Amino acid sequence: MKVLGIETSCDDTGVAIYDSTKGVLVNQVYNQNILNNKNGGIIPELASRKHMDSIVFLLKKIFNITNIKDIDLIAYTAGPGLVSSLLVGATFACSLGFSLNIPVVPINHMEGHLLSPMLGYKSIKYPFIGLLVSGKHTQIVAVHELGQYEILGNCLDDAAGEAFDKVAKLLGLKYPGGPALSKLASDGVENYFYFPRPMIHHSNLNFSFSGLKTCVAKVIKNFKTVQDKANIARSFEDAVIDTLLIKTKKALKLKKWKHLVIAGGVSANSLLRKQAEQMIKKDFNGTVSYAGLDLCTDNAAMIAYVGFLRYKEAKKPQLDILVKPKWSIIELSPIDN
Ligand code: KG4
Ligand code: ZN
Repeated sequence: MKVLGIETSCDDTGVAIYDSTKGVLVNQVYNQNILNNKNGGIIPELASRKHMDSIVFLLKKIFNITNIKDIDLIAYTAGPGLVSSLLVGATFACSLGFSLNIPVVPINHMEGHLLSPMLGYKSIKYPFIGLLVSGKHTQIVAVHELGQYEILGNCLDDAAGEAFDKVAKLLGLKYPGGPALSKLASDGVENYFYFPRPMIHHSNLNFSFSGLKTCVAKVIKNFKTVQDKANIARSFEDAVIDTLLIKTKKALKLKKWKHLVIAGGVSANSLLRKQAEQMIKKDFNGTVSYAGLDLCTDNAAMIAYVGFLRYKEAKKPQLDILVKPKWSIIELSPIDN
């Protein structure tokens, strides 16, 4: 079965084809980084207009690259995300499905991230703990099976990726700041500045990164050299990663599970990967999995893949509207199945 995936939840336009026997055949993403840098961030109205420009072009491109003539299913991101951006992909997907007379499945963007590592490791088995770290979400999820999700921890304010982006901006780096900050941090001294690890002594598994960002902002004012900035970047990265892994470790112990999946844009962070691997090996003798670097940030391959899984198991999420901008993955289970 060939599934066309369409992703337009935020500022990246993604189009991909997933083949259930061969895997991802093509995966194209157009980012809007130039526009975002010019405007100092994402402007929803402009992001949706850009999606309109890119989507037809990208679709033609992937059919040219693969020479594929037929698709069997269309999966699109229905939420969570910016409503004006979501509507572009949703309208496009539904119109295409209608004109080609093929089924269309609405997919939850965070479920796409959560299961994206399965595209690389066919052996990931349920249950596992999912650490979802993106630009808008920081969640610890107990994943019992497809569609059976339990949120153990959530972010109360800035998500991990958002904190990376904001601190990067304070350091004078370009959007999206996460990869740039991480690159700068690689020249910095570990824990040169000791920044707080927010909420690690709370009994719950929630996160709050806005205070950490404020704390870093105060230090940035007093240090100006490139080496100072690298030390600040590294110390901030250390604080975020420590916090994420302390809470993740608690979740693994709580559930008595030993398999971890890290997904979402921040899962591309190499220090996070390294430290998660050390933790899982030492404390749990377990495994940690993440998607390939091209599948960590927003893409349509993960949407096509989850579309296939849901269609195959007749577990299509029910939506009475085209898009759902605030759509938590816990709403997917178990009643929607
Ligand atoms: O999952 P994603 O593409 O979009 C959302 O669904 O939000 O995540 C984007 C986020 C951005 O905040 C970006 O700065 C962050 O992921 N990110 C990183 C890295 N690569 C992307 N953060 C830290 N280190 C990285 N290497
Ligand atoms: Zn995302």
